[in-house]
Amino acid sequence: MQQDRHHTDMVAARRIVVLTGAGISAESGIRTFRASDGLWEDHKVEDVATPEGFAANPVAVHQFYNDRRRLLLNASIRPNPAHTALARLEHSVIDLPGHDFLLITQNIDNLHERAGSRALVHMHGELLKMRCEQSGLSFDIREDLMLDTCCRCCREPGNLRPDVVWFGEIPLSMAKITKALTQCDLFIAIGTSGNVYPAAGFFELAREHGAHTVELNLESTNADFDEHICGPASTVVPDYVERLLSSAN
Ligand code: APR
Repeated sequence: MQQDRHHTDMVAARRIVVLTGAGISAESGIRTFRASDGLWEDHKVEDVATPEGFAANPVAVHQFYNDRRRLLLNASIRPNPAHTALARLEHSVIDLPGHDFLLITQNIDNLHERAGSRALVHMHGELLKMRCEQSGLSFDIREDLMLDTCCRCCREPGNLRPDVVWFGEIPLSMAKITKALTQCDLFIAIGTSGNVYPAAGFFELAREHGAHTVELNLESTNADFDEHICGPASTVVPDYVERLLSSAN
């Protein structure tokens, strides 16, 4: 039995921050990274998810993200009840006086948007965006990004990269994220192994500022959250959101 300091029901959850990882999209058919069938089992991080890897072999890196983009755009890949429940939670609280909501995702898929989430930051970037390294401008992309793809700003090939955050690069929206973490009273981490910083440290910053911290995961990561709820996201997240909304009324 996981040690639960106290349950969410006793928490007046008004300012909520949610952090999601690859586990929330697993039941939608998108691979996670560190499971036995994870992406990092058949790709070396340094080859496909670092600036050095891109400089050394841009074709291989484009292929890695083109394969993931094609899968994401496959009709079979859809938001699951966990994504939908988070959108419902946002819509239920965001307009209430004294309430606030922010969804931080480490995922580069667009399943949160497709489920209706709007108060959302992609701290590791987005698979359906590409960025010109000369102008810094981002553009939507739904087809393969190739070496000879021309950007609309420079009108020449060779300046484009996936608009994702690689290892060694600074995650996006950190000022907004840090502000939300220091002001929230409930921090919920869903489907993340807590292996990668700064995301892995978010729950500690939130707790230092008085938040109740909850982890929802297939299995406990044993990180020092106040509360651990184990099970598949598509089951435990809707149940948890229901509990939150019923205790709010
Ligand atoms: N329901 C809930 N949790 C699940 C499910 C599921 N169906 N399936 C897997 N999980 C959990 C696993 O137990 C694990 O804790 O999701 C987590 C996935 O962990 P990782 O594969 O490490 O993914 P993540 O935590 O998102 O990785 C963080 O690392 O490689 C970088 O940039 C990449 O954003 C990624 C970051």
